[in-house]
Amino acid sequence: MSPAAEILRREIAAQGPVSFARFMEVALYHPEHGYYQGGRDPFGRDGDFYTAHQLQPVFGILMQAFARSLHEQTGLPPDFTVVELGAGRGEMAPFFEPWRYTGVEVNRGEVPHGVTGLVYANEFFDALPVHVVMRRGEELRERHVGWSGDGFVWVDGGPVSSPVADYLARYGTPENDGDVAEVNLEALRHLRLLTERFRRGFLLAIDYGYTQRELIRFPAGTLMSYRRHQAMEDVLAEPGERDITSHVNFTALEQYARALGWRMVRLESLASLLLRAGEPDQFGTALEGGDLSRRLQLKTLLYGMGETFRALLLEKKGEE
Ligand SMILES: C[S@@+](CC[C@H](N)C(=O)[O-])C[C@H]1O[C@@H](n2cnc3c(N)ncnc32)[C@H](O)[C@@H]1O
Repeated sequence: MSPAAEILRREIAAQGPVSFARFMEVALYHPEHGYYQGGRDPFGRDGDFYTAHQLQPVFGILMQAFARSLHEQTGLPPDFTVVELGAGRGEMAPFFEPWRYTGVEVNRGEVPHGVTGLVYANEFFDALPVHVVMRRGEELRERHVGWSGDGFVWVDGGPVSSPVADYLARYGTPENDGDVAEVNLEALRHLRLLTERFRRGFLLAIDYGYTQRELIRFPAGTLMSYRRHQAMEDVLAEPGERDITSHVNFTALEQYARALGWRMVRLESLASLLLRAGEPDQFGTALEGGDLSRRLQLKTLLYGMGETFRALLLEKKGEE
């Protein structure tokens, strides 16, 4: 049994079943044994998943071009700052060198106060611990995680709390008996914190995700776990040894942010954002040198990964 599994098993034995958010928090972020904290490198070829960050340098060059266009749109303030949420290995830092840069990770770095600039979040919101809810007739019930004697199992966690019920009512509720949905209260908390600290500029969130209208496409929810580039549906197996993600509810991010004073600029595919970023110089900088690997990276970004990932761009005008 993995050390994170042992911690969760003991916690359940002492206090009863835990929320899935708690399970995910220990599995991914336990200070010693969490998936992202355990000292192994989950990213890249020998890790468990690829993100757009692994398609370097082409992704970074195009993102830099995009950040430049946002800098121009904000009137070229000299203190323009890029804050990266979930900076991982820090692979994007060199591409954001033209500006002040702060990478924020669990227990490392924090969003500075009074910033003007860009908050960049690539596969950040999908990695936050979520609550899981199932419709049972007229009722919405939380799904908790228990221990069966030889593995973790889903158990009924009773009626949902009022923040969870409120989230579902606003941003999409599972419709049919047995349907499942995730509730990302942490995403809203991060938006609140960001809004308090951020003065003016943009938030770019890149993730797999859906809008409220599209929720119907995911009756079983969107939780997924990854190990060695293989996606697996059993998210309760091997906590600490695998990544766990849930698709982002873009309607929740956008509407909650709007209530906090942001406005939506655009929700589009990552491919379409990158096309606009590369178009002014016909992808000249991204493909400089003309080597085949850069062309392949661009192809993957525009026709593969770029079509499945989405990019939400929000703007906060703030005071001048
Ligand atoms: C899926 S990884 C993405 C990493 C990187 N952005 C990329 O695209 O390769 C999610 C990252 O978000 C970080 N993260 C999760 N919760 C966080 C929090 N509360 N504050 C800062 N970073 C967090 C994780 O540690 C992890 O590095």
